Amino acid sequence: MTIAIRPIHPVFAGEVSGVDITRPLAPDEVKAIDAGMDAYAVLVFHHQALTDEQQMAFTLNFGALENARGGNITKPEDRRLPAGMNDVSNIAKDGRLHERDSRTRLFNLGNMLWHSDSSYRAIPAKYSLLSARVVNPKGGNTEFADMRAAYDALDAETKAEIEDLVCEHSLLHSRGSLGQADFTEEERALFRPVRQRLVRTHPSTGRKSLYLSSHAGAIIGMPMPEARVLLRDLTEHATQPAFVYGHRWRPFDFVMWDNRRTMHRVRRYDESQPRDMRRTTLAGEMV
Ligand SMILES: [Fe+2]
Repeated sequence: MTIAIRPIHPVFAGEVSGVDITRPLAPDEVKAIDAGMDAYAVLVFHHQALTDEQQMAFTLNFGALENARGGNITKPEDRRLPAGMNDVSNIAKDGRLHERDSRTRLFNLGNMLWHSDSSYRAIPAKYSLLSARVVNPKGGNTEFADMRAAYDALDAETKAEIEDLVCEHSLLHSRGSLGQADFTEEERALFRPVRQRLVRTHPSTGRKSLYLSSHAGAIIGMPMPEARVLLRDLTEHATQPAFVYGHRWRPFDFVMWDNRRTMHRVRRYDESQPRDMRRTTLAGEMV
């Protein structure tokens, strides 16, 4: 088998064929996938019936896992999945679906806002890798926005205006924007804002992109309403249909994306039915 990548959107996103990622990869396969990530930013694989162990082994071909501390309100004893696996499902540890007023459920609804994974960490995420184990029957598409194309399409004046801006990112901003405010002192300390540049340069391609996220709630040195209007404007620009690929999940689809130059969000789905999605996340670099 030889790896081939077919474009599935005019500006980014590719579909990979010719590789079984449940098995250990050869070095040239890892290289081809990494090159595919540089070119496409989002890669889709079909028919990959991964176990958690296989997903972890595949993930570690591309870097080191991020330290997951402080990324969620779920306590270690309430986790359903092994360490290193992010649970972006609607299933509790006991196998039942989350209750409507479950704090975990309400917190996870934040994934329906446009974001870049872990932009609220001092060292934000590189790749996220998501395996669909149980697909929800209605809705639940994941949409991706190409932040390189969005940056390129800005006029020169806007590019100059935002070049050196630095934003504050925090889970308190994204969850707060949905009206969730019942955080403990410990959580507030964990979710302390971090600073990220608004314009990033990709380390391997040298291309610039917007680094936006619903976690971004302030810009250093700018009055708050002005900052939020600018962030909303840029987000609206960056998520226009021309820059967005919507992925409709099939069982055992596997999608990996580069958080350094994409945003994503999950659309609403039928929460009376299960959705079992498991994510591994690689650490990126300080911006
Ligand atoms: Fe996410």
